[in-house]
Amino acid sequence: MRRQCVPLAATGTELISERPAAEMLHRKLCVRLLLIYFTAVGIFMTSSWFFSSYPRSFPPQNASLCACDKCIMDFEPGLSGLFNKTPELFLSTKNNISEKIFNWWRRLQPEWRSFSAYQTTVKKVFQIFPPSPQLTEPSPDRCRTCAVVGNSGILNGSHYGPLIDFHDIVIRMNRGPTKGYERDVGTKTTHHVMYPHSSFNLDNITRLVLFPYKTSDLEWLIKSLTPREKPDNKPGLEANKDLVMILNPAFMRYVHHVWLKKKGMYPSTGFLTLILSLHMCDEVDVFGFGADRSGNWNHYFEPLAVEELKTGNHPGNDEYKIIQRLQRLKKIRFLRGW
Ligand SMILES: *[C@@H]1O[C@H](CO)[C@@H](O)[C@H](O)[C@H]1NC(C)=O
Ligand SMILES: *[C@@H]1O[C@H](CO)[C@@H](O)[C@H](O)[C@H]1NC(C)=O
Ligand SMILES: *[C@@H]1O[C@H](CO)[C@@H](O)[C@H](O)[C@H]1NC(C)=O
Ligand SMILES: *[C@@H]1O[C@H](CO)[C@@H](O)[C@H](O)[C@H]1NC(C)=O
Repeated sequence: MRRQCVPLAATGTELISERPAAEMLHRKLCVRLLLIYFTAVGIFMTSSWFFSSYPRSFPPQNASLCACDKCIMDFEPGLSGLFNKTPELFLSTKNNISEKIFNWWRRLQPEWRSFSAYQTTVKKVFQIFPPSPQLTEPSPDRCRTCAVVGNSGILNGSHYGPLIDFHDIVIRMNRGPTKGYERDVGTKTTHHVMYPHSSFNLDNITRLVLFPYKTSDLEWLIKSLTPREKPDNKPGLEANKDLVMILNPAFMRYVHHVWLKKKGMYPSTGFLTLILSLHMCDEVDVFGFGADRSGNWNHYFEPLAVEELKTGNHPGNDEYKIIQRLQRLKKIRFLRGW
């Protein structure tokens, strides 16, 4: 039987499958061929990873962690301190944050709502949205491949679409569209990260991953996804409410304190998403991050408006250095597009 290197599940419904070994091997070969083709750089050994949500520290060095060539959680002395303090990734009914974490979180964006108001809102949230996140656990016979797709203009003309779609999990963020940009960014989205100011209508099989920066962001989620009284009775945002996941504020603090050593006000959405992916995947490929050749930070879906867009409150340079270090340690593969 002749098989081609095309995405097996471009619809995004299939997160992780238990594929027969031969098929996995075929997929690996395909991914490599595509990589070589797309980057023309050749020798990227299959990279990999850290871990997934549950191991709180690197496991014994001889343990088999995943079915990829390398797993993100494979022991790496230079990173061990970064992975053993990871809190739960997402809020759930079984996991609520302490007042200490809340007090850190509520300083991110000025809103002086009390801890008890936060708790009341969270309770309401879980009457509407799934009480626990749907995650694929790590397993020695599974290889969870992820593409983290940023919105940088470097994707323009990259032809990365098929390669991106080849991953089990494809995480996009904010206003990053696929329609009209399929050749460069692909068609598949399994997870779409957003916050109220960057909201984006989703299809009904994509997981909405809310990054909440304040209590009213949670209220926004409730309001946007429950039918309005008027005028047409439809929710303000299109998305499947059974596929909502909410990033744990404690995870944001962990990324800021442990990964960024408290630099900047708080981590950018892109960086948070990347570190999150290290905890959900066995292998991570990063697309659409960083400035283009001329140092511009535009989006692939918008013509360059402002030369030299600044990164605002976010510690952009420190984040970039960490991304480069992860790449040097072969924990992520960074596909630049040029
Ligand atoms: C891994 O090493 C530990 C300690 O050296 C040993 O107890 C364990 O049996 C080993 N596991 C495997 C799967 O070889
Ligand atoms: C956290 O959640 C648990 C389980 O639902 C509950 O028993 C506990 O009171 C909650 N703690 C706070 C501080 O809300
Ligand atoms: C998703 O939407 C499609 C088309 O709008 C519909 O056919 C399908 O039944 C929906 N699936 C779910 C799970 O709601
Ligand atoms: C993408 O590249 C094409 C060709 O170089 C250019 O015409 C277009 O304006 C670019 N799009 C954006 C959004 O920068």
